[in-house]
Amino acid sequence: MTAQIINGKEIAAKKRIEIAEKVAALKSQGVTPGLAVILVGNNHASRTYVTSKEKACQELGMNSLLIEMSEDIQEEELLAKIEELNEDSTIHGILVQLPIPKHIDESKVIETISPLKDVDGFHPINIGRMMTGQNAFLPCTPYGIMVLLEETGIAIAGKNVVVVGRSNIVGKPVGQLFLNQHATVTYCHSKTKDLKLHTKQADILVAAVGIPNFIKAEHVKEGAVVIDVGINRNEAGKLCGDVAFDEVSEKAGYITPVPKGVGPMTITMLMYNTLKSAAETINRY
Ligand code: GUN
Repeated sequence: MTAQIINGKEIAAKKRIEIAEKVAALKSQGVTPGLAVILVGNNHASRTYVTSKEKACQELGMNSLLIEMSEDIQEEELLAKIEELNEDSTIHGILVQLPIPKHIDESKVIETISPLKDVDGFHPINIGRMMTGQNAFLPCTPYGIMVLLEETGIAIAGKNVVVVGRSNIVGKPVGQLFLNQHATVTYCHSKTKDLKLHTKQADILVAAVGIPNFIKAEHVKEGAVVIDVGINRNEAGKLCGDVAFDEVSEKAGYITPVPKGVGPMTITMLMYNTLKSAAETINRY
């Protein structure tokens, strides 16, 4: 079998058109969605991501506010800035680009962001609400994966889903979202014995380990849906995922490529969450 490619770039573009239309409708009611992004220090990759987020805001007609803070900023100063943004009625989403310098407590930072403006979906209140199936901001990459499957017409209820990786940002929450949609979910990680035994059972396999070409054809059941969350560089410096694309795409039924797979969905869902936050202020006041 040769896998059908799930084109994340195309699906993201379609979703962005829908979001832009809703932004325009909201603006006609007097509310322009606004996203504040805080960048601490000068990490090159973080700066690239932050620039893409600002650009996406502009394209969709939203306001964006970039706040740059130096590497050696004190924790209190960062928390004070977040509190100021919590009170700012023109800002509907607050995102602190991770990682942040080691001398700042990441949990404290995340918990200082108002859960009503936590468009990353990282606040424990949003995580708890997601787990219990209540209205919540869903974390952007996991949410993007669910939208990719929905748009591709892949049913989830009753499927065996295997998630390889257990990060707070991707692995753990994506498993929960699949469970919420009635899949049978297995988590695998670095201590899992006989990985293949589990991954071969997967109707849907999510690779989120951050190791180039970690998932090989031998890990995959014939016809499975393979979702590659990895963004790595191989020895030659070329962008690659966690899945050995060439061999796995000969065996899978569907596969997301890297780039143009899951990646474009992450910022799209961040835009969606910011729009949702802004729309919810209308109902609140
Ligand atoms: N760093 C890498 N991915 C993310 C993300 O989704 N949100 C934030 N805030 N920081 C990140």
